[in-house]
Amino acid sequence: MSPSLRKEKIEKEELFDLIVENFPVGLIIVNHNEEILEFNPAAEKITGFKKEEVLGKNCHQMLPGIPCHLKDVGKRALANNEDKIFVHLEGTITHKNGHEIPVCYTSAPLVKDSQLKGAIAIFREITNEKKLEQHRRVLISMFAHDLKGPLAIAGGLLLRLREGKAGKLNDKQIQYLDTIIKEIKKVDKYIKSFLDIVRMEAGQISLSKELCDIHSLISEVLGDIKIRAREKGMTIRMDIPEDLPLVYVDKYQLQRVMFNLLDNAIKYSPPGSEIDISCRDMDDSILCVVEDSGPGIKEEDLPYIFDPFYRANYSEDVEGTGIGLAIVKTIIEAHGGKVWVKNKRPPRHGAVFSFIIPKANKSDRQDWNITESRA
Ligand SMILES: Nc1ncnc2c1ncn2[C@@H]1O[C@H](COP(=O)(O)OP(=O)(O)OP(=O)(O)O)[C@@H](O)[C@H]1O
Ligand SMILES: [Mg+2]
Repeated sequence: MSPSLRKEKIEKEELFDLIVENFPVGLIIVNHNEEILEFNPAAEKITGFKKEEVLGKNCHQMLPGIPCHLKDVGKRALANNEDKIFVHLEGTITHKNGHEIPVCYTSAPLVKDSQLKGAIAIFREITNEKKLEQHRRVLISMFAHDLKGPLAIAGGLLLRLREGKAGKLNDKQIQYLDTIIKEIKKVDKYIKSFLDIVRMEAGQISLSKELCDIHSLISEVLGDIKIRAREKGMTIRMDIPEDLPLVYVDKYQLQRVMFNLLDNAIKYSPPGSEIDISCRDMDDSILCVVEDSGPGIKEEDLPYIFDPFYRANYSEDVEGTGIGLAIVKTIIEAHGGKVWVKNKRPPRHGAVFSFIIPKANKSDRQDWNITESRA
């Protein structure tokens, strides 16, 4: 190597070190064995671990919250033959002192010549955001809860009016009352769904888990939704191996997830387009993906898309309340899984919603056998 090239190389290395040292968020780089190669000062501050303590150690064991996903991301990258997949997620990592720290992280695989060389993750602590969010959630749920009473009274009285219990009604009055009752039922449904989210997030709703076969679980949802797709001239393709390992989930809640994702895919995609549902066996989990050919999600909407009541501008003409994806996220996370969205790569367009849920393990199977024999 010529002296000038060597000098340039050294300068580049120094610049890389400088960037890593001063990077304003935690940074971890792992090799293909998930051994930590890089751990910057911001990562030390968030996790309490010193760089010397973690270098060369298995990231999965040191910081279980983040790296396990890097592995999944990497595998997916190879499986899809894509060299760059970024995942934006919230999770928790265990601080050296044993406390759980909420973090928000983005990770990407490092792929070269179709080989997974490792992965990179950046993360930041979101303890304050979580506290504020919790406070806001309590206030909103109290408000939603208090709305239920007056709404039930108003709904009951309207039904009595509609039944003619306060005097005979003319056609116009019946028509108006029917519309008001329909709208009140909608508001009631929204409040219930919203309170479901809040309770589930607070761990107050217990999931009725059973061993389920994803293929038949999704097929059942499709039965109902295919009619709507057909009405819009759309095709739903399903690529789910029949021998996928079982999952231990609340079947009703997981069908709600699939229903909401498919409902959106149909609502926001143009007539005649196609929707693809696929599932894959990952190491410890099952990956399910719903892809459509609609407008996709704009960059500025991506961070908020799973928030309750968030709707992107372009959805104004489509009926909805912005609660479906919040329900999806809450249910998946209550199952110990993750959900995320990205857009198809240009020139293709459309949204790609993916979620992972843990596979049923040995003890789930034993629990279920016990329940089964008791039933
Ligand atoms: N497949 C999709 N393609 C494009 N935009 C989408 C898609 N899915 C969701 N969105 C956007 O995300 C927003 C939130 O979706 P979400 O399902 O939470 O609410 P919604 O569909 O508006 O109402 P509902 O509560 O009835 O589901 C939507 O309003 C839309 O802007
Ligand atoms: Mg929806």
